[in-house]
Amino acid sequence: MKKILRLFFLYILSTIFIIPSYAVDVANGKLLHDENCLRCHNESKYVREKRMVNNFKQLHERVVQCEIMAELMWFDEEIEDVTAYLNNEFYKFDMEK
Ligand code: HEC
Repeated sequence: MKKILRLFFLYILSTIFIIPSYAVDVANGKLLHDENCLRCHNESKYVREKRMVNNFKQLHERVVQCEIMAELMWFDEEIEDVTAYLNNEFYKFDMEK
């Protein structure tokens, strides 16, 4: 009985660790951005002196807001990719904050 329990636990553990965590894809973010996000503003918005966005969290929220306005119906992964692309290319915030 103990052995079965142990096997069962091993099985549970392995399924938890095998589920792949989604890796952010910056190149995909750029593609999505260039195709969908330059309709209302261009990239100069991201580098102007008085930016609206001041940390990574705000950047993420702004991407969500703009994505809703643009009616794109993106998956969370796509939002993450575009946020990462904008951060990598323009904002360069510390991702932890
Ligand atoms: C329907 C028009 C529209 C579309 C499409 C749009 N945006 Fe925006 N975006 C805005 C407006 C309006 C602002 C605010 C501009 C201002 O106040 O100067 C803004 C601001 C931003 C900012 C903040 C800039 C700053 O000051 O730091 C980011 C980042 C941004 N948009 C990202 C995106 C992304 C990513 C997409 C594609 C998903 C997108 N936008 C598509 C209208 C749009």
